[in-house]
Amino acid sequence: MSGRGSNLQAIIDNIEKGALSAEIAVVISDQEDAYALERARKHKIPAVHIDAKKHKTRDAYDAALVGELKKRTVDLVCLAGFMRIITPVLIKAFPNRILNIHPSLLPAFPGLHVQKKALNHGVKFSGCTVHFVDEGVDTGPIIIQAVVPVLDNDTENSLSERILKQEHKIYSRAIQLFAEGRLTIEGRHVFTISGKTDTEEFLINP
Ligand code: GAR
Repeated sequence: MSGRGSNLQAIIDNIEKGALSAEIAVVISDQEDAYALERARKHKIPAVHIDAKKHKTRDAYDAALVGELKKRTVDLVCLAGFMRIITPVLIKAFPNRILNIHPSLLPAFPGLHVQKKALNHGVKFSGCTVHFVDEGVDTGPIIIQAVVPVLDNDTENSLSERILKQEHKIYSRAIQLFAEGRLTIEGRHVFTISGKTDTEEFLINP
């Protein structure tokens, strides 16, 4: 996490109300004053700041992350608004065990300033994506996506808010699928074992 941690909060809330069978072993941020850390502490979840300034290279930073995560026998690493490029040091330590949420319908608009790019491009729909993390930027195999309309009077803020509501649903859903061992990866494809397609929610797949 790098910032406000609304996705973290949605995950915590889903766990607490029994909608997600997972346990958060630790919340880590590269920003000391990230509100995400505060949210974790409020729920008695270990909150750790790992300072980029204390690590000379990206590899060294990721090695520190790996050390902290392994110490706590973490099964799955969930990135949410973690604004750093991840190196193979982290990826190789958790192969197919790192998820990320991104506020666009990948492969459209990877990287930063995503909602601005979507508005500037004039797309009529945008959305969000939960994907496994590979060595590229926002390129890993896609687990789940949700779609939202882009309206004529949208601003970056209003579009972000609409997308964020869906992020809060699909991240927990993806984690639950992972926890149930229902995701299989074949090349770029992620299949959901015995997944039902809920036609009521046809803008979220699966
Ligand atoms: C979310 O919109 C997430 O998709 C985005 O940062 C925001 C974090 O919000 N991530 C990226 O853009 C990653 N490239 P949050 O801190 O409230 O969960």
